[in-house]
Amino acid sequence: LLNDGIPQPKTYGPLGNLPQINVNEPVQSMVKLSYEYGPIFRMDLPGRSDLYVSGHELVKDACDEKRFDKRVWAPLQKVRAFAGDGLFTSWTDEPNWRKAHHILLPSFSQRAMKGYHDMMADLAIQLVQKWSRLNPDESVNVPDDMTRLTLDTIGLCGFNYRFNSFYRDQPHPFITSMVRALDEAMGQLQRLGIQDKLMISKKRQFKHDIQNMFALVDKIIAERREHGGQDEKDLLSHMLNGKDPETGEKLDDENIRYQIITFLIAGHETTSGLLSFAIYYLLKHPDKLQKAYDEVDRVIKGAVPEYNQVRELHYIRMVLNESLRLWPTAPAFSLYAKEDTLLGGKYPLKQGDSVNVLIPKLHRDTDAWGPDAEAFRPERFEDPNKVPQHAYKPFGNGQRACIGQQFALQEATLVLGMVLKHFELIDHTNYQLKVKETLTLKPEDFTIQVRPRTAMP
Ligand code: HEM
Repeated sequence: LLNDGIPQPKTYGPLGNLPQINVNEPVQSMVKLSYEYGPIFRMDLPGRSDLYVSGHELVKDACDEKRFDKRVWAPLQKVRAFAGDGLFTSWTDEPNWRKAHHILLPSFSQRAMKGYHDMMADLAIQLVQKWSRLNPDESVNVPDDMTRLTLDTIGLCGFNYRFNSFYRDQPHPFITSMVRALDEAMGQLQRLGIQDKLMISKKRQFKHDIQNMFALVDKIIAERREHGGQDEKDLLSHMLNGKDPETGEKLDDENIRYQIITFLIAGHETTSGLLSFAIYYLLKHPDKLQKAYDEVDRVIKGAVPEYNQVRELHYIRMVLNESLRLWPTAPAFSLYAKEDTLLGGKYPLKQGDSVNVLIPKLHRDTDAWGPDAEAFRPERFEDPNKVPQHAYKPFGNGQRACIGQQFALQEATLVLGMVLKHFELIDHTNYQLKVKETLTLKPEDFTIQVRPRTAMP
């Protein structure tokens, strides 16, 4: 215990608390420590000293936007090499954050989702067709196929581009570059300064991957500027034509490039992780699975749900909410104090000091969620008034919360509804959950078998 009363695990000389972190699973390591050290603790890692909070009262206080603002913490600073001042990796006081926020908000409103429905359904149909043509003894890798689906969906809804992931064994070259660059960005974090400087070939690859990504995205922007029709309804057309209502300014091409890469990163693995965890939990809870089947059979009349039918899949929505509670696929965010303040009325912070929110532990705080906080029980989302909203932050906080929240939930509800409408799901390996960490979380090596329930026309 330091004299500020904040617990800290034992340190190891210049390594500080590094030995307590499994570099392949940093967030899960922190979550484990939070069970031991409580709702707030300190970690010293090479070059930084950070506070980790997960108690619902402390997180609620840190989410007070008058006193705290988003910090672009170390992982995000690395991602800035290719996401620049896009929405996700910019500071709130950078001019392009406000500008892009204002221009893009309408494209992500619940109303706008209706306009994406047919494109979302197009990709959901591709998934159902692939699964319905498997032989009974074949299996599917759930996160892999869900990633094909969510990537292609944001490509199509975002800028009318088809990655055609269902027609490829290997990822599209853009995605190979993006995943490798994300991996390297996280890798740089784990290496000590001198070690990092020695990684010449990794650095060269990183540069090369970034150039690859820029080249494809810049080509898409240029082609649209040249040939784009007036009636494209995707995000790109909103970015090219939208004006900030405050200043009348448009986004410049460099910033549009960063936003497209940002949407591809954000839309790529978070939603696919969510769908994978939801399928995992349903498989392990046959009574909840049956309720979900009953709902899709009642609500979805044809082979593909209408937009309004997706809105009526209430139990499916609850399943998704509950999956995001237990495994929020973007598991942490960071805030800094805008002024000297007391966190939770108790812990002194200087202006600029930061706190990192560990969402998986916040979502399992028994003081907020009750003694069965560790259990999968979608019914806890039945009555919105009974949900402890301040202890539920899968999409982050306030004005810096996820702009893609409606998009992700609309897509995931449509897809999970369609998967259940069409397939019986079989847990052929008796899968034991192992969570893989990149920038996001997903079940590792999760395969299932499927049997058709209804015919695909
Ligand atoms: C921000 C989670 C899907 C675009 C965030 C943040 C979280 C989050 C926690 C806040 C990060 C921080 O404070 O540093 C998720 C989850 C998703 C999801 C769990 C799926 C289940 C998407 C999708 C898109 C998207 C599909 C785009 C199409 C963004 C953007 C931001 C963001 C642009 C930055 C917003 C800003 O600061 O203005 N997301 N996200 N997300 N997300 Fe998502």
